Amino acid sequence: MRQSTVLLDRQFTIARTDPRLFGAFIEHLGRCVYGGIFEPGHPTADAKGFRQDVMDMVRELAPTIMRYPGGNFVSGYNWEDGVGPVGQRPRRLDYAWFSTEPNTFGTNEFIDWCRMAGIEPMLAVNLGTRGAKEAGEFIEYCNHPGGTALSDLRRAHGWDKPHGVKFWCLGNEMDGPWQTGAKTADEYGRVAVETAKVMRWVDGTIELAACGSSGRNMNTFGAWEDTVLQHSFDEVEWISLHTYLNNYADDSAAFLASPDLMDSFIEEVVAIADAVAARRRSSKRIMLSFDEWNVWYRTRRPRAARVKPGWPVAPPILEEIYDMQDALAFGGAMISLVNHADRVRSACLAQLVNVIAPIMTETGGPAWRQTIFHPFANVSNFGRGDVLRAIVTSDTYATAYFDPRGPNDPPIPLPAVPYLKLAAVAGEQGGLTLFALNRDLEGEMALDVTARGFTGLSVVEATTLHHADLKATNTKDAPGNVSPMKLAGVSVAGDRITATLPAASWSMIRLS
Ligand code: AHR
Repeated sequence: MRQSTVLLDRQFTIARTDPRLFGAFIEHLGRCVYGGIFEPGHPTADAKGFRQDVMDMVRELAPTIMRYPGGNFVSGYNWEDGVGPVGQRPRRLDYAWFSTEPNTFGTNEFIDWCRMAGIEPMLAVNLGTRGAKEAGEFIEYCNHPGGTALSDLRRAHGWDKPHGVKFWCLGNEMDGPWQTGAKTADEYGRVAVETAKVMRWVDGTIELAACGSSGRNMNTFGAWEDTVLQHSFDEVEWISLHTYLNNYADDSAAFLASPDLMDSFIEEVVAIADAVAARRRSSKRIMLSFDEWNVWYRTRRPRAARVKPGWPVAPPILEEIYDMQDALAFGGAMISLVNHADRVRSACLAQLVNVIAPIMTETGGPAWRQTIFHPFANVSNFGRGDVLRAIVTSDTYATAYFDPRGPNDPPIPLPAVPYLKLAAVAGEQGGLTLFALNRDLEGEMALDVTARGFTGLSVVEATTLHHADLKATNTKDAPGNVSPMKLAGVSVAGDRITATLPAASWSMIRLS
């Protein structure tokens, strides 16, 4: 059996996790809003039309911050369309997803939904077709107490108290040619800084995120961040980054290695942001908002999976069905985020319901958990605290990951991928939680952890997500097909923890 060892020390911490590290994302896209979180007339819907079966699962998933309303959608969105009497709201063509947007759900409904779920709202402003003026008006509508036309309009609409939204995204993926109103780095940097300035005049307490690259594979990656931050460094606290892991090549070993490229991406963006700071002799540190991440490939390229003809309302698009190995790659991505908790202080799983999502619903029917639900719920519920620097010793394998932007892009060589990927978090209330991905597809792994500085550890819970069939999925009729099971045989002696991880598995070991 393959052996892996890990050395931890209670004193050797990376950082305390920010609650915002465990966020997610709701976009006006497909059935994420309509038929997802919001479905008036559904048997579980409350008076506001919020599906309570979905709400219960969201509470179990435990995301902490929610990005809204896009995504690509925001780059053509007029926030004014989504407020005021529902019967008077316009129906509009949405250029991002070739759908018709009915606007029966908008900002105020989103805020209500967040409050009910106990989740912090994160709003994005449209910097595709709009600019500083409209963003200033939007924040005035949301956050200004009253006594002006727009804040009084919010009050007249039924929301007397300001929403107090703190976290704002300055547009979305402005580097992407697919974006409505895409920009060069200089064009975007200028718009971002002017918009930031105005928004902060309206509310000086907000935090602002500039758009970074929409993927590490973008041709402009690196130069984009550098230019955008040179314009906006003084006006923003955050730079965003996005990643969707893929298994286009149907190569499980490469797919499970791919989260390691998220580690590289994060470290590269940190280096660029700090280089911009160094040029200014500034001690300010820009934090990373990984505000879209997930596995997404089956419904990404084929146009029929992204666009339905006839400009329908809430079409079933991007409805990725996740399998066992998707959950493993996804779990690896969570480990990458946690292990960079010093700089990645906000992150959003994209998305929440139906659209590349951990929760699936049938419109008018039930809701169920996809495979990726489980690693997220594990880490969000039990991964908060001091992340420990883990010294991992594990055999490695060589692979190459296919992440093409163009048809001639070669695979990325990954010559030494450790079979074990692990994060260790010392809980805020004491205790220690380990998250472990065994990337060996064939064999079990003997895990031997030395946790210096911990005494009297005992196992509270040990679970593993494993299925003999890497392509196994959860469905409406078999919603528990891929679910965490008890991980037997975990033992603790002094500061040593030993366990046997199944082949191709994601495990969580909680110790008090
Ligand atoms: O999450 C789906 C889409 O992926 C988002 O709208 C966009 O920002 C990204 O390209």
